[in-house]
Amino acid sequence: MARKSLKKRKSGVYDYYNAISGSYDELHGKEQIGKLKVIEKVIMPEKNDLLLDVGCGTCLSFDFFKCNVKGVEPSKEMVLKHPKADFLLGKHVFVCGAEDLKKFFGEKSFDFVICVTVAHHFIDAEESFLNMADAGKDDCVFVFSLLKDSGNYGLCVNIINKLFQVFEIREVHRDKLFFCRKKR
Ligand SMILES: C[S@@+](CC[C@H](N)C(=O)[O-])C[C@H]1O[C@@H](n2cnc3c(N)ncnc32)[C@H](O)[C@@H]1O
Repeated sequence: MARKSLKKRKSGVYDYYNAISGSYDELHGKEQIGKLKVIEKVIMPEKNDLLLDVGCGTCLSFDFFKCNVKGVEPSKEMVLKHPKADFLLGKHVFVCGAEDLKKFFGEKSFDFVICVTVAHHFIDAEESFLNMADAGKDDCVFVFSLLKDSGNYGLCVNIINKLFQVFEIREVHRDKLFFCRKKR
């Protein structure tokens, strides 16, 4: 894809989330928390574990999980909806997408990497999943929650199966959740 139209597609997504940031939690918060509840039951993170939330939106996961959470989110307006945004930004949450993870986190840093209802926005899905794989420790558990009726659903499933060993699949609302580890 030409660089200019790629940039346009990206900024279209960010403009959209910037615009709906004020009503996001009211419209989608309950549904997204429902997915986090299912994730929590399967992965059971402990207090000292380090979890990365890719596309963390309004940072719902920061109030939900009891472990150390870091996040990336390309729409700053979404992050600013969190009451502790000033504290989180630049320290725990970074304004970037999955394609830029390497700018902020080293390889093999995290015990858990989650990405909830985000992958349908990936412009380069392979690069984004590869970056998430790199950010996880060797025994990291990854959770990818994919919107089932999204245009790149099949592509994402193929990439997940290529890079990861899926050990559990759950369905919540319109998403399918893939729980996996890196292939050895
Ligand atoms: C449906 S929301 C989900 C937000 C959050 N994960 C949740 O469960 O509430 C999709 C989010 O993906 C973010 N996003 C879009 N493109 C992204 C990318 N390339 N990398 C990471 N996040 C992205 C959007 O800005 C938006 O906040």
